[in-house]
Amino acid sequence: MAKNLVVIGTQWGDEGKGKIVDWLTDHAEGVVRFQGGHNAGHTLVIGQGSSQKEYKLNLVPSGIIRKNVDCFIGNGVVLDIEHLLHEIKTLEADGIEVKSRLFVSPGCPLILKHHVALDQGREAMREAKIGTTGKGIGPAYEDKVARRSLRVYDLLNPDNFKNKLVEVMDYHNFVLQHYLKKDPIDVNQQFDLSMTHAEKIKPYLADVSQKLYEANAKNKNLLFEGAQGSLLDIDHGTYPYVTSSNCVSGQAAAGAGVGPHMLHYILGITKAYTTRVGGGPFPSELDIETQETPGYQMSTKGKEIGTVTKRKRRCGWFDAAALKRSAMINSLTGLCITKLDVLDGIKKIGICVGYELDGKKIDLLPLGADQVERCKPIFIEVDGWDESTFGIKSMDDLPKNAQLYLKTLEKLCEVPIHVVSTGPERDETIVLKHPFE
Ligand code: GDP
Ligand code: IMO
Ligand code: MG
Repeated sequence: MAKNLVVIGTQWGDEGKGKIVDWLTDHAEGVVRFQGGHNAGHTLVIGQGSSQKEYKLNLVPSGIIRKNVDCFIGNGVVLDIEHLLHEIKTLEADGIEVKSRLFVSPGCPLILKHHVALDQGREAMREAKIGTTGKGIGPAYEDKVARRSLRVYDLLNPDNFKNKLVEVMDYHNFVLQHYLKKDPIDVNQQFDLSMTHAEKIKPYLADVSQKLYEANAKNKNLLFEGAQGSLLDIDHGTYPYVTSSNCVSGQAAAGAGVGPHMLHYILGITKAYTTRVGGGPFPSELDIETQETPGYQMSTKGKEIGTVTKRKRRCGWFDAAALKRSAMINSLTGLCITKLDVLDGIKKIGICVGYELDGKKIDLLPLGADQVERCKPIFIEVDGWDESTFGIKSMDDLPKNAQLYLKTLEKLCEVPIHVVSTGPERDETIVLKHPFE
């Protein structure tokens, strides 16, 4: 029988989902994106030495680098066609066949020029900044919920598209001009651009639900690729410092158009420490600017620079209380701990095990940002290791203290560790229990 996997970020994004999806894809015949948009940035490192190649993906599923694997963009994704076409072109320039392998759902809401202008205009006005990626993600999801989105499907009927566009842009241009004091977006220009996009996107359109259903019936393994992280989830994250989609595992079903029984195994990708890009509370945060501190090491050795916006990612110790919430809301089957190698050489490693909130001790991340803001972290400290763990492929070869660190995380999170990543390349991976077996 086919086995389908969901790969989900358990922290605030950038846990290394792309690397693990690419690594797992040798066991899958289809990879599916089901939420988010080109706010995601997934880096894949393939090969060794001088033939090593780095790929950066935003919208195209991380299965695209492996030949013969189909890639799907489900209805839960908000789609900037211009960006998608650019990404396809870049992949093709690298000799990767995309056309016959990429399928886009006609149900995806479109990200149009006014969404980007609204996102950036609002962010500029906000005092407590969310630090969005400025790609129009939030406004595009707002339109979806408000039932006024133009969807990929609408591109196929130019007259209807024009009518809807005029109506929706009239509304948004009013806000842009009179509230945000910005220039309006030209409706005719947007229409012409969209019609150009329509021609180019047509060959990729497919009923993604049906294709996945059929693949499943043929016993093909599928991999559902999460973007962002559970703590950025619109409902379960540190609201309002979140993204505008559900990023939890349950969304894989709704955002791809499959039933929940098709999701057999949930792999939670978890950095051996924590990072966050943009605003919002971060209880275990460290100073990343002072040289020779653990935070500085995470930032520099971990190369913690945002893929999409090039901002420095904030860094901090592993937060087990935050992970506990992620485990709870995602039904995690197993954990994959990534970037263990980044902690090599740190003498004492901190782990946040809970917080003091309004005079009470708790061991589970609370829901709202204001509560999280008031949380004083409670840390334990474990011994680090001097040896390099970079590229190690077996648990037995890890230094004893690194093994102990992993055991401690496993115990605190109450989820078994099935995979450990010790480097950015595919093979720099320790398998304790293969998720597809
Ligand atoms: P994603 O958004 O979850 O796919 O993660 P990103 O790609 O944005 O960020 C993870 C970064 O860490 C990428 O540059 C990866 O190449 C890199 N990476 C992934 N796993 C490891 C690892 O185990 N060790 C090291 N040193 N780097 C890793
Ligand atoms: P991947 O898939 C890290 C963050 C932004 C901002 C907030 C809202 O690479 O893990 P948005 O543009 O989505 O409205 O911004 O969410 N954010 C991410 N942070 N990794 C991501 O994706 C992110 N996608 C959005 O920095 O704080
Ligand atoms: Mg990323």
